[in-house]
Amino acid sequence: MFIEQMIAGVPSSSIEAMVIPFERIVILTGAGLSAESGLSTFRDKDGIWSKVRLEDVATPEAFARNPEKVLDFYNTRRNNAGDVKPNAAHVALSRLEADYPGSVLTVTQNVDPLHEQAGTKNLIHLHGEIQKVLCNHCGHRIPRGGDLSVDLVCDRCGNSGGMRPDVVWFGEMPYHMEKIHAALTQCDLFLSIGTSGNVYPAAGFVAEAGAAGAHTVELNLEPSAGISSFDEAIHGKATEVVPAYVDRLLKSG
Ligand code: OAD
Repeated sequence: MFIEQMIAGVPSSSIEAMVIPFERIVILTGAGLSAESGLSTFRDKDGIWSKVRLEDVATPEAFARNPEKVLDFYNTRRNNAGDVKPNAAHVALSRLEADYPGSVLTVTQNVDPLHEQAGTKNLIHLHGEIQKVLCNHCGHRIPRGGDLSVDLVCDRCGNSGGMRPDVVWFGEMPYHMEKIHAALTQCDLFLSIGTSGNVYPAAGFVAEAGAAGAHTVELNLEPSAGISSFDEAIHGKATEVVPAYVDRLLKSG
């Protein structure tokens, strides 16, 4: 495991002494957290966006142009998400929420259900949930297994052709932004885990939390696009660095 401590002028040996109990923690997670559960990331070498153009499958225009293609793409991802289990990093974050004396809010860009399966309760799915379905005609939103098709009829409005995965596409507004902004301006520790920092608004959360006075830490396989905005960075696999960091926080608390 490669651990890179980015606090200017502070030797690694004094890191334990730097840790203080934080009262309000906000955690942002991304695809790297679920990678070791077996779900593909987006921008790594063999990631999802190396195989398919996001403009063809992850925009409202793509769904209007070719709904079958979009639904096929998400049906595969819905099936994959149903086949995997939370890993040690999801479990560690759930343990942090349960055992830490301060508040812990997890905001995930991931549409898989692995945080909740690991036991995390104070959770926001910023980019939606792949195992739910949203009716484009009336906004009805329901959990639903199985494949989606253009023939599927909405239980509420009775229309077909609009049943889509309840995920946020490029060009759409991510969910629960007011609640997230409020939490970011009040937190004193912000953790960003397993995300490349390429997609806004999530990529801007570190700046928002930092401007409000929070200590900001990146835990990722490699430096993200926003690395210079963080006070501290720990680089390695999520299943190794996240449980170790959670242990450190729980000891401090
Ligand atoms: P990315 O694929 O852009 O970034 C994943 C990050 O995880 C990369 O920086 C990897 O280095 C890191 N990573 C890979 N394996 C890891 C591991 N085992 N442990 C720790 N880190 C690891 O995914 P996101 O940043 O989540 O949005 O992508 C953000 C958004 O872009 C997604 O929510 C999705 C996508 O397009 C929409 O579809 C709207």
